[in-house]
Formats: sequence, C-alpha cells, structure tokens
Amino acid sequence: MVADAGSLPGVLHADLLTEGLAVRDGFLSPPRVLGLHECAARRRVRGDFSPARVGAESRLQTRREIRGDSTCWLAEPLFAEERALLDDLERLRLEFNREGYLGLFDLELHYARYPSGAGYARHLDQPLGRDQRRVSVILYLNPEWPAAAGGELRVFDGAQGHRDIEPIGGRLVCFLTAGREHEVLPARRDRLSVSGWFRSRER
Ligand code: OGA
Ligand code: MN
Repeated sequence: MVADAGSLPGVLHADLLTEGLAVRDGFLSPPRVLGLHECAARRRVRGDFSPARVGAESRLQTRREIRGDSTCWLAEPLFAEERALLDDLERLRLEFNREGYLGLFDLELHYARYPSGAGYARHLDQPLGRDQRRVSVILYLNPEWPAAAGGELRVFDGAQGHRDIEPIGGRLVCFLTAGREHEVLPARRDRLSVSGWFRSRER
C-alpha cells in the first residue's frame, strides 16, 4: 500500500478507462480552489447545507457513525466560480463520452463538508435506484492539507488492496462508479470537496 499515490500528469480519460480510476492534481488552480471555498462558505452562512443521509430513497436517515458530512447541491442561482467549474466538468463529460462511449448525460453535484472527526464508512455510490450514476467525481477544495490531517479517500480494489488519496486542494478524482467500494477516513480538520456523478439517461 502506498500512503499517497498522488497522480502523474496522465490523461484523465485514459486512466479512467484502463484503471477505472483517475487522479489529476491541479485540475483547479489555487485561486479557483479558494474561490469555490468562499462560495461554499457563503452558502453555509445562509443555511444551504444539511446533514447527509444514507439509505435507499424511501428510507433515508441521518447516521453520523456511517456518514458525518453535510452537503449542499450546486443549484441555481450559481456563483460565477461555480458556473466556471460546471463548464470545466461539462468539457470533461464530453471527453469521457468521446473517448469511452460512456453515454454520460448529465451531472449531479454537491459540496460536501466533513467536520473534524467525521468520515464516511466503506460504501458504493450506487445504492438501490441510483444505477444511472456512472462516473463518480470528487474535487477537493482544501487550500492547505498537511499529511498528518488524515481524511484520505480510500479506494478499494477487488483483491483486498486499496489506495489512499489525500484531499489536496485542486485534485480531481474520478472513478467508474459501479462496484467500486471506497470510504472517507476521518480527518483532523474540516474537509471540503465538491463531488457528484456523471449519469446516464437509462438505468
Ligand atoms: C461520496 C464520497 C469521497 C470523498 O460523497 O460519496 O465517497 O473523498 N466522497 O469525499
Ligand atoms: Mn462515495
């Protein structure tokens, strides 16, 4: 196991299609990371965040021991920095479709803020009724992240191995959603990301 494998400046779609997982550092520049961090703070002040819930659609519940973050959809009215991010991710969607025929149709995207000590237990991103989610996307918005802060994304592979990815600002992680187990290790400071899924139209 590698403590933090980081990323090579590879081509995102190539890694996604061959490995099922792609990591790109510097997807966003530090000023843009700060800009989005600010947007999230403004949304939080006005009460747009709510505790994340787990479970199937009809039985959603808050379970802090499973999932301790609060989330906020990137919904209209958007800040300019948010619109710019959506434009970048739209280009990524088109790239994935062009190179991998993934049939990605749209993107659902939210901020996720884990307070110090919170994590998200090992899970899949396709709970019952959510199999239109095809590619999971996570972009970290932590301007500073010392290695001792924890909070890694732990991505499991089939053979009991795993890879830990630190939530460093500007780093983008994408993986094929189906069957890919992962968890968020508890962090020693607040941890912010924007994350979501490229979805297909059909189940
Ligand atoms: C999720 C998730 C990972 C991360 O929101 O479903 O697994 O690193 N997030 O924030
Ligand atoms: Mn997840």
